[in-house]
Amino acid sequence: MTLTDHNQTLFKLRLERSRHDLFDMFEALYDRHPAYAQTRASLEAVMLEAWEARPDDLKWLDMKRDLEPDWFQRPDMVGYVFYIDQFAGDLNGVLGQLDYLEEMGVTYVHLMPCLKPRPGDSDGGYSVMDYRQINPKYGTMDDFERVAGALRARGISLCIDLVLNHTAREHAWAEAARQGDSEKQAYFHLFEDRVLPDQYEQTLTEVFPEHAPGNYTFDEALQKWVWTTFNTHQWDLNWANPQVFLEIAEVMLYLANKGVDVLRLDAVAFMWKRMGTRCQSEPEVHMILQALRAVCRIACPAVIHLEEAIVSPQEMLPYLGRGIHDGKEGNLAYHNSLMVQFWSALATRDTALMTNVLRTHFPTVLRNATYATYIRCHDDIGWAITDEDATAVGATGHGHRAFLKDFYTGDFPGSFARGTLFGVNEETGDSRISGSFASLAGLETALESGDKVAVQRGVDRILLGHALIAAFGGIPLIYMGDEIAMLNDASYLEDPGKTHDSRWIHRPAMDWARVEAAKTGGAESPEALVFQGIRAIMRRRKATPELHAGHPTHIIDTPEKGLFALVHDTPAGTLLCLFNFTENWTSVPGEWALSHGVRDLHEALSDRPVALKEGNIALAPYARVWLR
Ligand code: GLC
Ligand code: GLC
Repeated sequence: MTLTDHNQTLFKLRLERSRHDLFDMFEALYDRHPAYAQTRASLEAVMLEAWEARPDDLKWLDMKRDLEPDWFQRPDMVGYVFYIDQFAGDLNGVLGQLDYLEEMGVTYVHLMPCLKPRPGDSDGGYSVMDYRQINPKYGTMDDFERVAGALRARGISLCIDLVLNHTAREHAWAEAARQGDSEKQAYFHLFEDRVLPDQYEQTLTEVFPEHAPGNYTFDEALQKWVWTTFNTHQWDLNWANPQVFLEIAEVMLYLANKGVDVLRLDAVAFMWKRMGTRCQSEPEVHMILQALRAVCRIACPAVIHLEEAIVSPQEMLPYLGRGIHDGKEGNLAYHNSLMVQFWSALATRDTALMTNVLRTHFPTVLRNATYATYIRCHDDIGWAITDEDATAVGATGHGHRAFLKDFYTGDFPGSFARGTLFGVNEETGDSRISGSFASLAGLETALESGDKVAVQRGVDRILLGHALIAAFGGIPLIYMGDEIAMLNDASYLEDPGKTHDSRWIHRPAMDWARVEAAKTGGAESPEALVFQGIRAIMRRRKATPELHAGHPTHIIDTPEKGLFALVHDTPAGTLLCLFNFTENWTSVPGEWALSHGVRDLHEALSDRPVALKEGNIALAPYARVWLR
């Protein structure tokens, strides 16, 4: 195929735009590798080929997003995250639910792992054996392209997972390695004996201490130890090998050309290994991620990257581009700290830690990037609160983490929550938590007790969380089932492939009968209150231009310890968002709001003026207000 002049010029312009972003990193990472020159040349060819093959409508989208590079920072972005089978059976089923997505106001969907996984337990699809095929349970690549096209026609962006830290043991590269192919063996981290693994283990952490202890697995066919950070069937790729970079770059562009808008780069923290470290978030990880980002900027600029790094606050920020990578790395990264701090403040009814962490570790504005904000997802919650941060507000790290663990299992006296432990590490005493939003927020215990006030509190906590992620700045992600307040689902215990992994308790099948009930139910129905409440929040988000993620955001102190507040500082005026993390009525002086730039006391979330009572703004239990 010959390119038109126009297309050729565009490619060249974009190559020049990002040449240094890509090749400076590529060179620094790989120039001592014997395959350097050859892979570098191939990379240019691969990008050009992908661009030639890119469908015209996607090329127009590239143009549109080059012209509107802030598209993903706008307040009309509302995300929805689901497992294809749990939500709609298969890809055709998804086509049948597009009206539902639109009704929810969704403009971004994350189809959870949809590439072909290994047979049997595949870690929910995160153990991929073929990056170029769709999971046959869900359909074919044609079906996938149809879904992508249908979403695009409705203005909904499509996010899928690219698991690039590891492949399944059954992936062709791993299979070839097992057959003795030395080139493919160099795609992984293999060890003849335990000498090096034992040395590395000294400083490594455990991701799945219960069901996949240790970071290495002995492979019988190879008679070697394989680096497997996650499950034994997930083989870590060797990113020190430029061939791996080239292969994954090709995969990225292949998927981009199928109509993907957002690539969720899975478990990126673990991509680079260095003896004596935790092998997480090493500087090379950011170099690789910047280079991958540049590849897309050149050959499919409509596509952006969401980086999944569930790490401490200081460690997370670089995934959005810091220092030399400023503006050049992830466009999106999960705001894990916001999520953790939400649950922490909800349990303690005290926002001091939240305010301090979010203010000290995060900048007021990000360049070419924003957060993916969420309260629940398909994974567990790890209590990522550092000792230093806890100490700064008069707590201890160990004590506070232990408290959160007890609170969210429901063991702590008076706790409203009902969760279940995940990733218990006997050695370190750490443990994480699984559970649905509604169950962790107290709805399950409230419904059991039949206490109507408690039910209302549960509903309010769920709405508080959604109002927070809608207002924080970034793309709020609604996790499937949370919008109808689905409770924990213990049925995974009957599936032998899932019993070992309690995260399945919050990965239920969508309850469509409950959706119907939620649409029509009144004030007596918690699912109706939650569903209609979330829909209203997202509708109001879109009508609130101050929530564009490009504006500086300040976390401010509040007069009450149970209140959390942030201010969006925009040329058109200030938006002060206030959240009450307690079950008590409280108030703030109107003067206080005015001193933070609020002008006409209009409440943007309810779209009503605020009436002062004796000069104060009254705040109901779990109130959420956006004042302009
Ligand atoms: C990601 C996924 C998680 C999975 C892990 C290994 O972090 O979110 O579900 O277990 O990667 O692929
Ligand atoms: C840890 C990892 C994260 C992974 C999760 C799986 O938090 O850092 O990448 O998704 O475990 O539950």
